[in-house]
Amino acid sequence: MSNHPPVSTIEKEVGRRRSFAIISHPDAGKTTLTEKLLLYAGAIQIAGSVKARKASRHATSDWMEIEKQRGISVASSVMQMEYRDCIINLLDTPGHQDFSEDTYRVLTAVDSALMVIDAANGVEAQTRRLIEVCRARNTPLITFINKMDREVKRPLDLMDEIEEALGMSVVPITWPVGMGKSFSGVIDIASSQMRMFKAGEDRIGHQADQLVSVSDADLKNKLGESLETALTEVELVQGAMPSFDLEAFLNGQQSPVFFGSAINNFGVQEILNTLVELAPAPKSRSTIQREVLPSEKNFSAVVFKIQANMDPAHRDRVAFLRICSGYFERGMRLKISRNGKEVRTNNALSFLSQRRDILDEAFPGDIIGIPNHGLLQLGDTLTEGEKLQFTGLPFFAPEIFKMVETADPLRTKQLRDGLMQLGEEGAIQVFKPMLGGQMLLGAFGQLQFEVVAHRLKSEYNAEVRLLPARYSLSRWVSSKDPAMLKKFINDNSHRMSEDVVGAPVFLAAHRSELEVAQQLWKDIEFHALREHA
Ligand code: G4P
Repeated sequence: MSNHPPVSTIEKEVGRRRSFAIISHPDAGKTTLTEKLLLYAGAIQIAGSVKARKASRHATSDWMEIEKQRGISVASSVMQMEYRDCIINLLDTPGHQDFSEDTYRVLTAVDSALMVIDAANGVEAQTRRLIEVCRARNTPLITFINKMDREVKRPLDLMDEIEEALGMSVVPITWPVGMGKSFSGVIDIASSQMRMFKAGEDRIGHQADQLVSVSDADLKNKLGESLETALTEVELVQGAMPSFDLEAFLNGQQSPVFFGSAINNFGVQEILNTLVELAPAPKSRSTIQREVLPSEKNFSAVVFKIQANMDPAHRDRVAFLRICSGYFERGMRLKISRNGKEVRTNNALSFLSQRRDILDEAFPGDIIGIPNHGLLQLGDTLTEGEKLQFTGLPFFAPEIFKMVETADPLRTKQLRDGLMQLGEEGAIQVFKPMLGGQMLLGAFGQLQFEVVAHRLKSEYNAEVRLLPARYSLSRWVSSKDPAMLKKFINDNSHRMSEDVVGAPVFLAAHRSELEVAQQLWKDIEFHALREHA
């Protein structure tokens, strides 16, 4: 058994934890900003691995490269930094949209999110989907409008666009003066001070920013019209928008907005300060059984991501757990609530550095990695013995389907085993049709199929053919009336399948088929999202 520290220690550690993820459309500047955040917080070593990860992203059309880079992505999946007495955990989200399902699940493990927007492009497609996930969970959202050193959209237009996309009020904390070549800094609205911008200046290590009052005569002379325009805009937004309300931000109803340029380290420190001063520490979380407070003495955590490790010969995987309560100490014995099995944690990983240091202790809000061989599944809850099941890990109905067939019938068992494991890992969704022997795969992007076919061959020695499937959408089905659900499944057996956890799934070739079924079966509920329970 572990030596539990007093509850007061746990409370103190919880209070200084900030766990967040960055959401953005590719190329908005997530990698650059991540690097600068790490540099500011002194975690310079890891910044190199962020670059390496970026290199892997550029090669996503080539799955062999993904395979090679998987080790790097494990190492940079979670980055921990210390800033102003806070421990900040930054969880990476996959850059490629084909892996967006992974991103949704990562968002369940954070307490706030930072949305990075390219000021020239505004709110782009992929960001919109991620916003929906944050909205559904009321995740507090900080907005960073990047690339002000370029010719970009008008700040007032951007505010409107973001407000519309977020469906919540946005409150600028800073306001830009000029843009592109004439970008000269941001006004801190609350203090009416302007923070001066100089392209390419390395601001790291500078204790004080260059702050000048907006009423300073020299400043007015120097900037002339651009400062006047900015001040008029500030007046306008102050008149039109509510002032910053911490409660509304914490409830996911208002987003503070910052302008800057990640590549020039401008506006980056404000983000760190905001995380420390305004972003929430870990809160209580729901389980089926009860609400779990982070400061509880006993440990609990939930698996939100599973990643295959580098060595395909051993089929080892790393399960990523978000600690929800208590105290973690290496060597501690934990139990999986799903089946009561014991998990040893001698090899648990922390993510303090590129070297994936072996972890000694961790607190709520922190992420730990537990290497295993399939023992841990997505959504699993681990505790010191109490049976708890955290809720809220989402699975979305896939959008592309393929039938999978083995090229060598003698290896059917390997194929089934491999598919079940990859399905449990969340690499792809696997469905077993009720009629017919072929398994069905569901994904969000073509790349997911390529990765799975490649991994089946290299890790399970099962060569597969992927064939077009006639389905274009799926829905999990449930009913308050078990007899009715049974009848629905029997009557529609040619369209029914089971997912990896045995939940019934209705498959349709066209939307109209779904609509007809919905018309005919009023007592059946059709779900585009399944929450792991
Ligand atoms: P991502 O992770 O969101 O995909 O974006 P990333 O940080 O890689 O940034 C995408 C491109 O935008 C990069 O240029 C990066 O240098 C540039 N960028 C990021 N922040 C700023 C900024 O504040 N101002 C300007 N002008 N550019 C910015 P690239 O040419 O695609 O890559 P690279 O060769 O510079 O690495």
